[in-house]
Amino acid sequence: MAISKVGIIGTGTMGLGVAQVCASAGHDVIAVKATPGPVDKAKDTVVKGLAKIVERGKMDAATRDAIISRMTFSSEENAVADCDLVIESIIEDLETKKALFRRLDQVCRADTLLTTNTSTLSVTAMMAVCKKRDRVAGLHFFNPAPVMKLVEIIHGFETSDETLEKLNVFCKDINKDPVIVQDTTGFIVNRLLVPYMLNAIRMLERGTGTIEDIDHAMKSGAAHPMGPFELADYIGLDVVEAMSMNIYMDVRHEHHAPPHTLTRLVQLGYLGRKTGQGFYDYSAKPPVQNPQLLRPVI
Ligand code: CAA
Repeated sequence: MAISKVGIIGTGTMGLGVAQVCASAGHDVIAVKATPGPVDKAKDTVVKGLAKIVERGKMDAATRDAIISRMTFSSEENAVADCDLVIESIIEDLETKKALFRRLDQVCRADTLLTTNTSTLSVTAMMAVCKKRDRVAGLHFFNPAPVMKLVEIIHGFETSDETLEKLNVFCKDINKDPVIVQDTTGFIVNRLLVPYMLNAIRMLERGTGTIEDIDHAMKSGAAHPMGPFELADYIGLDVVEAMSMNIYMDVRHEHHAPPHTLTRLVQLGYLGRKTGQGFYDYSAKPPVQNPQLLRPVI
């Protein structure tokens, strides 16, 4: 059976981005706010994002209205019960995610595919709390979800071939470019990207170059759209630190542990673009490297 109705749990940046991608491809979407608070804010975020695309002449108003009409917003988790596919995109906390999977396994139809958008947690650990494990997998989107083509389909320990094939077809259907990956911490992209960002931070700590120089070098010399510090600020330094810790706890090699400067910035609440301060100071236009990082962070 083809996937028609998609349930998204979690209405943060990733959840709403994925919801928009699915609705844009013609799927009915129910987006569930996982934490207390007004659901209207989630809808407003999508409406404002689409309005910008229309303003720039990249989408017509009728298409925007059709996308919005396919999206329903709810604060009731059970609203996803009759979906063909559920994609959870809640907080990156394994116990919270396991509790959610335990509930989804009970309320959803037996043939509903249950997936997680986790970046570095174990899909198999979430699968383990479910009775019907063959329909559990990972579906890892990248930020910004409407733009980035890749989706990592994560093969958990007991994910069936049928589930993987359905997810593969679904990803192509929503105009994404999937790759099937075994369930290892960080999968493919974050297992390569996180050490890359950590190495850039250590390079800064050693005084190899400034933030701007290292970013410039990687954009100009390796054709990356963003340098490692711009990327870390974009992802969120708290997220980068958490991904680093998850990989470190798995492999126990200090190479993967969060560098001192990253930990200090997170402690200060300098989380990158979302707080206006990170490796860059976003109050300046254009952003400048954070002046406090021109001397060693202790
Ligand atoms: N939603 C929708 N569209 C967006 C968008 C968003 N949030 N952000 C940018 N876009 C669109 C713009 O509308 C624009 O589209 P058009 O060309 O059709 O006009 C296009 O993307 C390019 O955007 P901009 O011109 O504003 O800016 P840019 O050229 O600097 O691109 C970028 C911005 C796409 C973010 C680019 O810098 C990039 O690809 N950066 C790398 C991002 C990346 O590596 N993401 C992965 C992070 S790791 C991750 O997500 C995994 C995890 O688990 C944490």
